Amino acid sequence: MSSADTSPSVYVTRRLPDAVEERLKRDFQPILNADDHLPSADEVVDGCREADALVPCPTDRITSDVINRLADGIKIIASFSVGYEHIDIDAAAGRGIVVTNTPDVLTDATADIAMLLILGAARRVHEGQRMIYEKTWGAWAPTAMRGVHVTGARVGILGMGRIGQALARRVGGFGMEVHYHNRSRLAVEQEAGARFHDNLESLLAVSDILSIHCPSTPETLRIINEESLRLLPDGAIVVNTARGNVVDDDALIAALSCGKLFSAGLDVFDGEPEIHPGYRDLDNVFLLPHLGSATMPTRDAMGFRALDNLDAFFAGQEPPDRVA
Ligand code: DGY
Repeated sequence: MSSADTSPSVYVTRRLPDAVEERLKRDFQPILNADDHLPSADEVVDGCREADALVPCPTDRITSDVINRLADGIKIIASFSVGYEHIDIDAAAGRGIVVTNTPDVLTDATADIAMLLILGAARRVHEGQRMIYEKTWGAWAPTAMRGVHVTGARVGILGMGRIGQALARRVGGFGMEVHYHNRSRLAVEQEAGARFHDNLESLLAVSDILSIHCPSTPETLRIINEESLRLLPDGAIVVNTARGNVVDDDALIAALSCGKLFSAGLDVFDGEPEIHPGYRDLDNVFLLPHLGSATMPTRDAMGFRALDNLDAFFAGQEPPDRVA
């Protein structure tokens, strides 16, 4: 795509890392969001009027209504994300619009954040930080701030895809025992000693630390709820780096408040950036603002992956990460 006049036009909902925008400008005619505000649905539809492709982010709700209002010129939606629950892929397929995502490239960064949440939730980091910043740290004491000892703990991984497997490698290095539940069992070589549970209930019963890595789908909506939390061992820890709506916030807050759970570490929230106000009242939570993929090389790689999909599509090839 050498000529700026003939290259496809791409509407991008948010600012992308510099290196990604440079390549975008070299190979396409981008329509960029100069001030990086969160566009409304109407703005997305409007921005796509003259475009051939749309690059949204997980914060953009590309609903069936949006898809049905997109100009006929839009042939592909290349999401800057691995998750694609924010796009109605059936509506896209109905209009013959291809949808792609960005798998693989954020696996390690996200597994690192899951590890950070496990350690932060187990070792009461939020409380400790508050003591430092609010100047309430009395003195070191033998009985003070005792947390959960992670060495030897059983980690239950719900969703053993790429990120779940990357977390399994990390927790193995910390001497934890790995259990998992997944739609299908991994090959023995891939399991690397992790124990498969063919149902969620069985996984929950052995999860001293439950780490959620399943995608958000109608089947996983609030799969972690009052009933499932009750099945965890007393004093368990819940960690979520997947999607907020996999967890029932009211049930999790109740389990944290009554002492059923020791703590929770959360990077994702239902309705984020708004979060359930109940979390702010709790000491035993370690909360992050959706940082899973937020490293510099990872965000570059996500953008390049979205552009690889656009390159393939506009060259008449099958995009490598087509999901619809
Ligand atoms: C994704 O790509 O789906 C992630 O949530 C972004 O961090």
